[in-house]
Order: sequence, then C-alpha cells, then structure tokens
Amino acid sequence: MYDEVDYPEPGQVERRAVGGAESARAGRLWWDGAADAYQAEHGDFLRDAGFVWSPEGVDEAEAGLLGDVSGKRVLEVGCGAGQCGRWLRSRGVREVVGFDLARRQLQHSGRIDEQTGHRLPVVQADAQRMPFADDSFDVVFSAFGAFPFVPAAESALAEAGRVLRPGGRFVFSVTHPIRWCFPDDPTEQGMTVNQSYFDRRAYVEEDGAGRAVYVEHHHTVGDWLRGIVAAGLVPQDMVEPEWPQDNDQVWGGWGPVRGRMVPGTAIFQAVKPV
Ligand SMILES: C[S@@+](CC[C@H](N)C(=O)[O-])C[C@H]1O[C@@H](n2cnc3c(N)ncnc32)[C@H](O)[C@@H]1O
Repeated sequence: MYDEVDYPEPGQVERRAVGGAESARAGRLWWDGAADAYQAEHGDFLRDAGFVWSPEGVDEAEAGLLGDVSGKRVLEVGCGAGQCGRWLRSRGVREVVGFDLARRQLQHSGRIDEQTGHRLPVVQADAQRMPFADDSFDVVFSAFGAFPFVPAAESALAEAGRVLRPGGRFVFSVTHPIRWCFPDDPTEQGMTVNQSYFDRRAYVEEDGAGRAVYVEHHHTVGDWLRGIVAAGLVPQDMVEPEWPQDNDQVWGGWGPVRGRMVPGTAIFQAVKPV
C-alpha cells in the first residue's frame, strides 16, 4: 500500500556544482523513491483532478493564469501524478499531455486514472530534452515540476520555448528565489537569512559513495528572467502569491508563519511572439 512508505532518508548534504546528467539521475532516484510518500502526504491537497500552483494553494480555477484553454493543445512539464492535466480536461482542452522524469510518479497518474475513469496521456522524459516537435503546443506549463531541479535554467526554458507555438503561453511556478537564503524550517526559527542569495551552487544530498541522490538548483529572479528572454519569450508577469489566512498547512519549507512575511513561490508568465 503506498501510504505505508516513507520518504528516502536524507543523505549527507553538500553545496557544489552538479551537471545535467547527475541532476537527472538524482531526480529520478529521489522522485521514484519518494513518490508513494509524496502522494500519500499531498494527494488530498492536490486533489485527483485539481490544479494547484503552489503550497499557498493558488488554484488555477480562480487564478486563470493559463487563460482560456478550450480547444487548445497543452503540455505539462514535470506533471507528477497528473492532477493538473486531469482538471484541465474538464475545461475543454483539445488535448493535454504530461511528462515527468520519475516512472513512479507516472504510475500514480495511472492509478488515479483507473480510480477516476480518466485516461491522461503521460510520457517519461527529462525537461532538459523535451521529446516533442517544435511549435507543437498552444500552452506549456509547470506547477513546481522540473524547473527547480535543472542546473541550466536557460536550456530547460529554451526547450519550453521551442515546443510552444508562436502566440502560445508559458507559465511555470518555482520556489521563490529569495527562499534560497533561508533554512528549510518554516517556523519562527527559520526566519534568519543563513545563506547567500547569490550562491548558485546546488543543494545536494549524497549517498555514502558521494553520488548525488537529491539535488535542487537555485536561480535568481534575474536568472529566470534572462532565461525567459533568451528562450525567445516575452515575460508578462511574475506572480508572488501571499499566504492566505485560511491555509494552515505546512509543506516542507512552506508554511503560514514564514509565508505571511516572505514569499515562497514565484509564478512566471510569458508568451511566444507571433
Ligand atoms: C513537486 S513535484 C510537482 C508535480 C505536481 N505539480 C505536484 O504538485 O505534485 C515535482 C515533479 O517534477 C519532476 N521532475 C523533477 N525533475 C524533472 C526533470 N528534469 N524533468 C521532468 N520532470 C522532473 C519530479 O519527478 C516530480 O514529479
């Protein structure tokens, strides 16, 4: 039963440079190992067919960041168990496709499909090399999928720009870059800046042999913006959701105490010029 499984034990923590292949290997290992516990912990918040952008609970039903999706072909990057895609199908999209690095996350998508009678097309792939044709989607989006885990933000953003058709919209949420300065603890104790915003070395958990088994990458606000522009896209907005009064949920380093003082999420919106 998936709800009896725990997260992988954290390994030794390092701060160092990590390339694309090592990041992808670590991401696959970690998300395959963590998928059961992750879905058990967050499945209710995400809902089987729900579209939540972030731990603040920004819901696409109210936010409408993707605009009108009816009749459109939509791609989700790092789709996890496909909750967003399933919600979009109720919004009249022509087609929605999801991809994710971790096979176990996609197996959860299949499990939810079986339980709910959906059939969401999903593919196992890496956001660093999207297996889709140029100009093939009207909308590309990601809700905390993939982008916080890639070393070269500009190449993953270029991939998103490549598969988006001219006139299409790209929206993605990531950890707010300012969060990099703070410890993971989202309580009063975690209100102290303890690392440099400008330090781009990755956060790495290693196994006993020094191999990365979990990696997160930091990109500053400027890094994201430059990556969007370099991908040939035009930035439209950067949404910084405030913590809502009625959300008491703690999700890793996100929670109501720090969330009321410091932004935890950045949602970038861009379009591809015609
Ligand atoms: C925090 S989850 C977000 C997924 C979904 N929106 C959710 O809220 O559950 C991050 C997802 O990104 C996937 N991921 C990480 N690195 C990736 C990469 N390089 N390419 C594709 N997916 C990746 C993970 O496997 C995981 O399913």
